[in-house]
Amino acid sequence: MQSKSNRVIKIEPTGSALGADIDDVDLSRPLEDDVIAAITDAWHEHLVLRFRAQSLDDADLVRFSRLFGELDMAPITSSGEVEIPEYPEILVVSNVKVNGKSIGSLGNYEAEWHTDMSYVEQPPKMTCLYSLEVPEEGGDTSFLNMYAAYEALPDETRRVIDGKRAKHDYSRNSAGEVRKGFEGFADESDPRKIPGAWHPLVTTHPQTGRRALYLGRRRNGYIEGMSVEDSEILLDQLWAHATKPDFRWDQKWRVGDLVVWDNRCTMHRRDAFDDDSRRILHRTQVKGSERPV
Ligand code: OGA
Ligand code: MN
Repeated sequence: MQSKSNRVIKIEPTGSALGADIDDVDLSRPLEDDVIAAITDAWHEHLVLRFRAQSLDDADLVRFSRLFGELDMAPITSSGEVEIPEYPEILVVSNVKVNGKSIGSLGNYEAEWHTDMSYVEQPPKMTCLYSLEVPEEGGDTSFLNMYAAYEALPDETRRVIDGKRAKHDYSRNSAGEVRKGFEGFADESDPRKIPGAWHPLVTTHPQTGRRALYLGRRRNGYIEGMSVEDSEILLDQLWAHATKPDFRWDQKWRVGDLVVWDNRCTMHRRDAFDDDSRRILHRTQVKGSERPV
């Protein structure tokens, strides 16, 4: 049966655990209300949407992102600088250097599995990532369906984590770089002493009502009320489960791809790539309307 969204726009699921392509919408133009509604429904259903062959400037990216809510400012980078002063809501993700200085964040390293800004009290609900330049090889971004990860947990594990909260490290980004202002925690090994937000390990999505495993980021994670050793054992077990290929889809970037994900029920990571190649993406993040519950 055709879904309501499919009558308005063409939605092609990736065939993996999450993700769908929408190829018949030009996002540089104003969108009709029924198209916006269809995109929103498809996003709730597929968790990650990819729009290929777009041609967007920063104003287009910001305008499209604002259709889904107010934007958060770009997160604090390792340099502490705002990358595009006219658009402080845009984070530049890039390894490119001009006069020896990086134009963006995350370099060319591997970025570990994470949910964007899970270290704040009210993380963004949506992230939009648009590619301007990408390497021939490497730098793929992978996604995990955290509803599916939750649903596949053994009953016993669900019982253990139900009602428990975990801490999400603020001090480092997903490439392991220390954020400006958090240098004092660079050598701290006790996760209980590192600043960050507390969130439930199991959350309920405010729109879909589905339950998801909410892990956020592994480094310096800590489950409330446990010894650090027991917390490490349980976190390792949950991470080994959630990062299985069954729950995963890999995005191979082309120039002009806009990928839009739901931060409340997904995680993502990025492969490293050769630092001699150039990779430039522009990112926005839409404010979450509530803290994860
Ligand atoms: C991000 C991120 C991955 C990438 O921008 O939030 O994790 O592919 N980027 O660069
Ligand atoms: Mn990210």
